[in-house]
Amino acid sequence: MSAPNPDPETRTVNLFDGELARCPQPVYQRMHAQCPVARAAMTNSPVISRYEDVIKGLRDPELFSSEMDMQMALGTERPMIPQQIDPPLQTRYRKLLDPHFSRKKMIELEPVIRADASALIDRFVDEGHCDFDPDFAIPLPCHAFLRLCGLPQEDLDLFLSLKNGIIRPQLETKSIDMEVNKKARVETGHRIYAYFEDVIDDRKKSPRDDLMTRLVQSEIDGHRLTRNDILDICFLLILAGLDTVTATLGCNIAYLAANPDQRRRISADPELIPNAVEELMRWETPVIAVPRVATRDVEIGGLEIEQGELVSFLIGAANLDEIEFPDAGAVDFDRERNRHLAFGSGPHRCLGSHLARMELRVAMEEWHRRIPDYAVEPGKAPRYSPGIREVMELPLVWPAP
Ligand code: HEM
Repeated sequence: MSAPNPDPETRTVNLFDGELARCPQPVYQRMHAQCPVARAAMTNSPVISRYEDVIKGLRDPELFSSEMDMQMALGTERPMIPQQIDPPLQTRYRKLLDPHFSRKKMIELEPVIRADASALIDRFVDEGHCDFDPDFAIPLPCHAFLRLCGLPQEDLDLFLSLKNGIIRPQLETKSIDMEVNKKARVETGHRIYAYFEDVIDDRKKSPRDDLMTRLVQSEIDGHRLTRNDILDICFLLILAGLDTVTATLGCNIAYLAANPDQRRRISADPELIPNAVEELMRWETPVIAVPRVATRDVEIGGLEIEQGELVSFLIGAANLDEIEFPDAGAVDFDRERNRHLAFGSGPHRCLGSHLARMELRVAMEEWHRRIPDYAVEPGKAPRYSPGIREVMELPLVWPAP
């Protein structure tokens, strides 16, 4: 018989366990009850799950650094900006980037993203079925990203292959050999750099009203961003801004398909959608953990952490902490106080949170307006991946008109 997860005897938690992927909430609740500070099975690295401990850690970049060097390299040649650098330099980049991702900017972008969502739905609504990810949840964030950057929509397929080449190279290489996939990642990395090199040259010659031009013209302390700075920002935007929204959309729709009462409430009253998006972000928390490196020896809740150890702040578990969220185990679209950590916390809190929220709200509004009554195809059950929580297959059916 396999060990319980978490295992209170050994104070370990298996972050790649099948139950944690399928249905993480009960595992998180057991962690709170049995070992809110634990060590990860296999790597032995510290795992922190209490809301208070997580928020404190993420807000203390001097003690818990994001500079992890090539450990998190993912085909990059340098650290990605701003995620893999610490304040005070990180703060300077955020000051420059934040205005381009503000709530106001996203309101301006909303009509065109709504039209993109609606055009995707047009393609399959009359058929009465779709494969949610490839038909909707994967292309929509990519359309939004291209529009935000001012890049041609015809590059959608290219972007999807670049993103997959980094995040899941095995899809492109059709191999499970680690060396083959590492090489493919590096090659994809070069293609990403080459793509954006061309865009930078183009915007230098012919400036436009778009994010890429603004990056080319931006300055920190009176100095223009270097070519490498811009490349390192763009690389991160591809990795951070596409799969996260796809995963969240898939989790939300899978939850609603499995809970028809909640789905009917949303379809009948779309004004509930913004709250539902927040509550489902808390409940599902697709980016389940964020990593940091301890810069000195420290103790959290009785767990001794050594300088240099990689610490996982389990934001998925923090979002199920009863001390912060009364009745945390219930999905409540009327929850009044919802300070969830699904976008992280502290200086590295998600740069794209306003964009993500707008995309999710618009997608949910358009979807429920056009397809209010849907279910998972009979005989099929959604399968969730470990690591980032995402539904790997979500075939949906609804009454065709
Ligand atoms: C629902 C979708 C999303 C989720 C759940 C999400 C989640 C997160 C989380 C948890 C972090 C903190 C990482 C850390 O502390 O190390 C983060 C950072 C970041 N996110 Fe998002 N994200 C989403 C969408 C986006 C989008 C659409 C973009 C941009 C196009 C984006 C860009 C970034 C960037 C650049 C950072 C690094 C910020 C920094 O280090 O200063 N994210 N995201």
